Amino acid sequence: MKITVSLIKADIGGMAGHITVHPGHEELAKKKLAEAKETGLIRDFYVFHVGDDLQLLMTHTRGENNPEIHKLAWDVFVEATEKISKPLKLYGAGQDLLSDTFSGNVRGLGPGVAEMEFEERRSEPLLVFAADKTEPGAWNLKLYKIFADPFNTAGLVIDPTMHEGFIFEVLDLIEHKAVKLKAPEELYDLLALIGTPGRYVIRRIWRKSDNEVAATASVTRLSLIAGRYVGKDDPVLVVRAQHGFPATGEVLEAFAFPHLVSGWMRGSHTGPLMPVSLRDAKCTRFDGPPRLVGLGFQLHDGYLEGPVDLFDDPAFEHTRRLATEIAEYMRRHGPFMPHRLGPEEMEYTTLPQVLKKLQDRFVPAE
Ligand code: 13P
Ligand code: 13P
Ligand code: MG
Ligand code: MG
Ligand code: MG
Ligand code: MG
Repeated sequence: MKITVSLIKADIGGMAGHITVHPGHEELAKKKLAEAKETGLIRDFYVFHVGDDLQLLMTHTRGENNPEIHKLAWDVFVEATEKISKPLKLYGAGQDLLSDTFSGNVRGLGPGVAEMEFEERRSEPLLVFAADKTEPGAWNLKLYKIFADPFNTAGLVIDPTMHEGFIFEVLDLIEHKAVKLKAPEELYDLLALIGTPGRYVIRRIWRKSDNEVAATASVTRLSLIAGRYVGKDDPVLVVRAQHGFPATGEVLEAFAFPHLVSGWMRGSHTGPLMPVSLRDAKCTRFDGPPRLVGLGFQLHDGYLEGPVDLFDDPAFEHTRRLATEIAEYMRRHGPFMPHRLGPEEMEYTTLPQVLKKLQDRFVPAE
């Protein structure tokens, strides 16, 4: 039997400001998803948040892009907006719901989606990652390390089923095109693209030996849908682990380096991506720094056993300390690049309005 994992998320209003969700959001989501489990629409679910983004992890047998599953998520977001965010005047009530009407699929409407369908293995460790105050390209470096770098993932060398490598699907978010590249043969081509994470984003990864799906990520760019700044896209990622895929610890190893990502304050800054526990999944300093949570489950007939709060561990203390040091260093640059993002990325913020006002003041230079 094929199981589908659907992780659908949205920012439907934060408190105080963009720091975290309201507890009522999660309560309402749990109630609605429990009802859907009762009716058999979904097999199982787990509701959580990172920062101001509400995360709905669902398992079912209806395949990817299923209109009923997408409608369930959309309805949760709309109801939580109407019943909680709006009456409590939460910040940015319904922020990521960019459309008034649902038309069968939440893709393109604002919420982020990561979905994969597969035949459950004899044992199916499933890892789920969700970040706040950054963009989908933030996963590029992590996914490269997990699925293409033998210095991160010993299994690429040792495990015969992984030894052939993986296929990466990369999306060009500007041209709306996709390309599939093979690792290790086309590593340098892959890096030539994904080193520009604001434009080229890894959407999906398959094991080359049998085309089995290994990972899938959300690729929403809200500013490209709305044509203006509406917060960051705060991405999600689902990864299958062990037995022909990277071990859980090999996946987590990629998160030990708090690399620099775009996002943070007003979606306009570069900062370190900090792995935290569910307890610390709120963005505070300068609305950040950008952070992520990782949850580990064992699937059994589509049921989610878990989660293990993967970064709730002293082994990641050093990473957090380093991230804090990098945050301190980057902050000292104030409004200067490269802490503040470059002109192309700032195009969708409110900075162009300020620059426009100054235009008339310019006179020909002597
Ligand atoms: P255990 O002996 O603890 O199961 O370890 C197996 C392993 O492969 C760890 O990466
Ligand atoms: P979010 O996308 O998390 O709402 O971030 C918006 C923002 O401007 C943070 O300063
Ligand atoms: Mg927000
Ligand atoms: Mg957010
Ligand atoms: Mg956002
Ligand atoms: Mg063991």
